[in-house]
Formats: sequence, structure tokens, C-alpha cells
Amino acid sequence: MHALPVVSEPLAPSPHPAGSREDREWRLDQLRQRVAACTRCQELASARTQTVFGVGNPEARFLFIGEAPGADEDAQGEPFVGAAGQLLNKIIAACGLKREDFYICNILRCRPPGNRKPLPEEAANCREWLDGQIAVIDPEFIVCWGATAAQNLMGTEESIGRLRGRSFQHGRATVLCTYHPSYLLRNPAAKKDVWEDMKLFLKQAGLPVPA
Ligand code: URA
Repeated sequence: MHALPVVSEPLAPSPHPAGSREDREWRLDQLRQRVAACTRCQELASARTQTVFGVGNPEARFLFIGEAPGADEDAQGEPFVGAAGQLLNKIIAACGLKREDFYICNILRCRPPGNRKPLPEEAANCREWLDGQIAVIDPEFIVCWGATAAQNLMGTEESIGRLRGRSFQHGRATVLCTYHPSYLLRNPAAKKDVWEDMKLFLKQAGLPVPA
């Protein structure tokens, strides 16, 4: 029988002023250490090269959430560094932004074998880490890349086609959803839809929309 997710002890209080960059880095590092030792999903823990925690600006206004690490991410320990990540970088550049403007993580911190979709119990096991990262970053906007990110974050079964183009609230963050870059690699015709979603994101964030 699958064990219920274990909820860890609260983190020790950070020695830095609350909300400062040092405080956020310290708290993320505490979480990173717990994630590195996590064995809640035995299949994933035994197959991984390493955990893929998250990367980016701890003071970012914007959090990107993807699905799970793939082979490149598992090898390098960083989210979105493979082909989908290259496309994500192009989308970020087309928005007039840089990767440093974001914090980037996934629903899962371990690569599912063969890049299969995360199982609900794996997403549940990893939720504590996602919630911890969201609490530290405290983003104004969350962009969910693909159905797995959107459905797991918000606990909905609505399709990504129905979720995109709308905004949702998660705590203090506004959530927008769009297609996953891997889907765009297989279906380049959907790039125009993602650009519409990025324009909505930029407008709502009060940023200029490149022509
Ligand atoms: N796809 C994802 O959803 N996340 C990654 O980190 C890489 C590919």
C-alpha cells in the first residue's frame, strides 16, 4: 500500500532578516537539502542521478512551474536545460526578459523513468517541496507550463486548452497556464497560442509587450 506523504518538521528559523535575499536563499537551501535526501517515491529515488530542485532568482516576481525533470535535467541537476528548456529560453527572450527574472521548478524533483507522466501519488509526495518553494519565492505570478503543472497546482482536471487564457488565484499569486514547451516542439502551430498567453502574462504583470 502506498504510504501517505510524510510532512517534515518545520524548517529552523532563518538567521537572516525575514524576506531578505539571504533569508530566501537560506530557506531554499534548507529545502534543497531535504529534497536531496528525499526517498518518498522509491522508484524515482532509486533511478535518479540527482534531484532537480529548482533554479533562479529567489526574489523573482515570476515563478515558472513545469512537469518533471527529463534526462538532461537529471544529468545536470537543473530544470529546463534540455530541448524544452532551450525553447523556454527563446520564449523568455521573446518576452524581453531573462532567465534571472524567474524562479523555475517542476511538479516533481526527480525524473520519472522514460519521462512518463508523474503519478498522482508522486505529485502528492513532492507537494511539500513545491509549496515550500512557493512560500519562499512568494511570487506575484505563477505560469504553469502544461496540464500536469496546472492540474496539480490547482487541483483541477480541466484540460490545458480550457485553462489557458484565464487567470486564477493561488494564495497571493495570479496563475496563468499555457502549453508545455515539449508540446510546442511536437506541435509548432501552437506557438501562436503560447505567444497570446505570454502577452496576457506581460500585460497583467505591467510589462511592455514586444511587437
Ligand atoms: N520538462 C519539464 O517539465 N521540466 C523540466 O525541467 C524539463 C522538461
